[in-house]
Order: sequence, then C-alpha cells, then structure tokens
Amino acid sequence: MSPRKLSPADLRQARRSSGHCHGTLIVAPLWVAYQVNLGTLLRTCDAVGACMAVPDTEHYRASLAQGDTLGRRRPCIHWVRGNRDAWLRRRRDQGWRLLAVELAEDAIPLPRLGPSAQPTVVLLGHEHHGVPDVWVEDADACVEIPMCGRGASLNVAVAGSLVLYRLAGLA
Ligand SMILES: C[S@@+](CC[C@H](N)C(=O)[O-])C[C@H]1O[C@@H](n2cnc3c(N)ncnc32)[C@H](O)[C@@H]1O
Repeated sequence: MSPRKLSPADLRQARRSSGHCHGTLIVAPLWVAYQVNLGTLLRTCDAVGACMAVPDTEHYRASLAQGDTLGRRRPCIHWVRGNRDAWLRRRRDQGWRLLAVELAEDAIPLPRLGPSAQPTVVLLGHEHHGVPDVWVEDADACVEIPMCGRGASLNVAVAGSLVLYRLAGLA
C-alpha cells in the first residue's frame, strides 16, 4: 500500500483542541535572543506537548508576538518574572530536573538520552554566548548533540527541537 498525504482536515482531527499546561516538559530559552528561534521553538513545543518558559520582558513579549506563527494554537507559556536563576532554583526545589543543552565535557550524547521520566526543564543558550557557565556546571545533567561537520554548533532552535523530540519519546 502506498502512503497517502494527510489532508488539513485529517491533521486537525488528530491534534489536541487546547494548549493547556502539561506540567512535565518545559523548554527554557532564557538566554535566546532572536525572535525566529523563539518562534521555531514554540512550534516544536506545540508539536511535542511541551511548555515554554521565557523572561517576562518587553523583548521576549515582542519577539514571541512576531515569531509566533501558531496564533490561537500557541502552547502554554510560563512567564519568568524577576531573576532567571531564582526561577530555575525554585523549579529544582519543586522536583524538576534541570537539563542543559550544551556542548560540554562529559555531556550525555543525544542518542543516549531517553524519554523523560521526571518533570524536566530544558535550558537553551544564547546564540553567541551559550548557556551561562554556572548553569552548565550546576544543571542536573547536560546533553550534547554529536556533530561531524565543520561548524562549531547547531542553530539553537534545531538543537532544542532535537532534544525535545527525544524527551517527549517521539524520536
Ligand atoms: C549557536 S549555539 C552557541 C554557541 C556559542 N558560541 C557557545 O560558545 O556556546 C546556541 C545554543 O544552541 C545549543 N546547541 C547548539 N549546538 C549544540 C550541540 N551540538 N549540542 C548541544 N547544544 C547545542 C546550546 O544550547 C547553545 O547554547
């Protein structure tokens, strides 16, 4: 039997009807600067059933408004008010695992990362400066996506999307 391309109506029927908080997987591009990357990550959140956490600042509100192509289907967003480090520490105190996505020594290679068995916050770094050193050292684990090309790193939205798909058990 040959595959048939799904129609927009088929796809709509297969999707969820609301973007409520699932409370198990949050991507935290707390240092990501570019709106196109935030918009791309938002679409991945929708696809895998994850939430997004971003600082509650003018920059992030404007970037998400411009980068968002989902409109009313936008997934759950946790607005981080005040200090980002304090927000991350609070999450950890509440039992969340903090997973930094970064090229780092002794990081877990992506193929060895299994679906997440506990609530997890996924930390993504700034396009030029990466995840702050303090969080690479202090995260519960660090995951690295192996690369064999000549570039130093992947685009942050690509890296975040690959990790989210693994954690959600969809890849
Ligand atoms: C363009 S990279 C930042 C590179 C930056 N020059 C640095 O020194 O960290 C932006 C972010 O994407 C993620 N990233 C990109 N490639 C990655 C890889 N191969 N493995 C894990 N994370 C990666 C990390 O979160 C990183 O902080």
